[in-house]
Amino acid sequence: MAPAILPILWVTLGGLFVIGGLLFTHLLPSLLHSKLLPLGSFGWPLLGETMRFLQPHSSAALGSFLQDHCSRYGKVFKSHLFLSPTIVSCDPELNNFILQNEDRYFQGSYPKPVHGVLGKNSLLVVVGETHKRLRTMALALVNATKANPGYINDIETMATYVMTRWKGKEEVYFCDEARKFTFSVIVKQVLGLSPDDTTTAVILRDFRTFMNGLISFPLYIPGLPYARAVQARTRIASAVKDILEERARSMGASPCNGGQDFLDVLLSVGNLSDEEKVSFVMDSLLGGYETTTLLLAMAVHFLGQCPAALDQLLSEHRNIRDDRDENQPLSWDDYKKMEFTQNVINESLRCGNIVKFVHRKALIDVRFKDYLIPSGWKVLPVLSAVHLDPSLHGDPSTFNPWRWEGQNQTASKKFTPFGGGTRLCPGSELAKVETAVFLHHFLLNFRWRPAAEDVPIAYPYVEFPGGLPLKVEPIDGE
Ligand code: HEM
Repeated sequence: MAPAILPILWVTLGGLFVIGGLLFTHLLPSLLHSKLLPLGSFGWPLLGETMRFLQPHSSAALGSFLQDHCSRYGKVFKSHLFLSPTIVSCDPELNNFILQNEDRYFQGSYPKPVHGVLGKNSLLVVVGETHKRLRTMALALVNATKANPGYINDIETMATYVMTRWKGKEEVYFCDEARKFTFSVIVKQVLGLSPDDTTTAVILRDFRTFMNGLISFPLYIPGLPYARAVQARTRIASAVKDILEERARSMGASPCNGGQDFLDVLLSVGNLSDEEKVSFVMDSLLGGYETTTLLLAMAVHFLGQCPAALDQLLSEHRNIRDDRDENQPLSWDDYKKMEFTQNVINESLRCGNIVKFVHRKALIDVRFKDYLIPSGWKVLPVLSAVHLDPSLHGDPSTFNPWRWEGQNQTASKKFTPFGGGTRLCPGSELAKVETAVFLHHFLLNFRWRPAAEDVPIAYPYVEFPGGLPLKVEPIDGE
């Protein structure tokens, strides 16, 4: 008898599980706020619409999920994502309202597994007073980095270092090369290490594991990417701790060593624990690495499709080179002359959508226009939707750097590649300088063309699946 009952028992339990899931994740939230909620659908029990939301698509487009939902329900809709009832916003006004009201009505709320990889002190995951305290420090460190007289020269040295290694090569995978560059820059800026340093190579290897884990399925099983990422983070943190201790010792031995670099500033602040200092370095390494790599790759990708923009950019950089003595390094004045370069960078950010959306939750019931955003719900401002909105950017799917001529180049309601409000990316300027300096040397020293079709895909973490292969040929037999 017993074996015959078992299947019935399983089916009944399964049914109860689904009904229970539906009740708690879908029906209750809807019933509690039924009238005022934006339109939308919750999808499957528990998982909701997460799988459809995460479906890969070109990062220069909205993707079928957002397209379908916006045309069916409008720019603000309800859904069930990342195990939580969610309000998704593709509306520039609401996005701006959310970003500007951090800690008042909304708060950063990254999924728990992200905390596991980034660590509990990461700027991206801390909230409230701790966020305020750590962020003040982050801004001071960015300023110290920019004020360092060797800053732009270090970037230039790393760019030419990477390109000298292309000697004899006809083809390069641009994403790999850009990664070597951005990693060398950030490791030099933050830890004072050169690309040839053995510690740099060790950290770089662990960093790749770490990055893979950030985008993996978040289940801690030893040997699988998520667990390997958490372990890689521990190893990087321990290497960083050693470097910090070593620097603290040498500062103690000779306290007045001239200029203040990133580590000097970091070590001299009193209100940060050792753990927070290590986490700070990790944030800078992580923030300054993959995103800047992607910005460079986006610029090259879109320029490869727009010969008129490439011509104009090339002539801007030739003029800058011709205006100064041979072998004289680039200066801030040269950087300021790169006006069309800034247009290309902005347009690459707009079309490339390196960060598609950010994670927030509502702290209280919030009324916005006719909608209610219930307390405790997840809120996802979709940054890419604003960049691709035809009412804000004419012909949004066309790469057109000239649209930025005479326009406000900084963040605005219709352009938020670096987020906004009190979580606005502290590294935005650093990323732009790196991109401009690399492009300067790349364009002046190489003829190049795409070696194969490769488009950036939002998984939603953006990636060039083929690594952006390029045919390269040195100009003037370099
Ligand atoms: C093209 C390059 C970059 C893009 C597109 C980008 C994008 C963003 C975005 C959208 C946010 C806001 C996240 C949120 O609101 O939840 C952010 C925050 C952040 N970014 Fe960037 N970023 C870039 C480069 C950098 C660089 C170079 C650094 C460091 C050197 C950096 C460090 C950070 C940090 C630490 C935060 C957290 C800020 C906070 O929560 O207060 N980023 N970034």
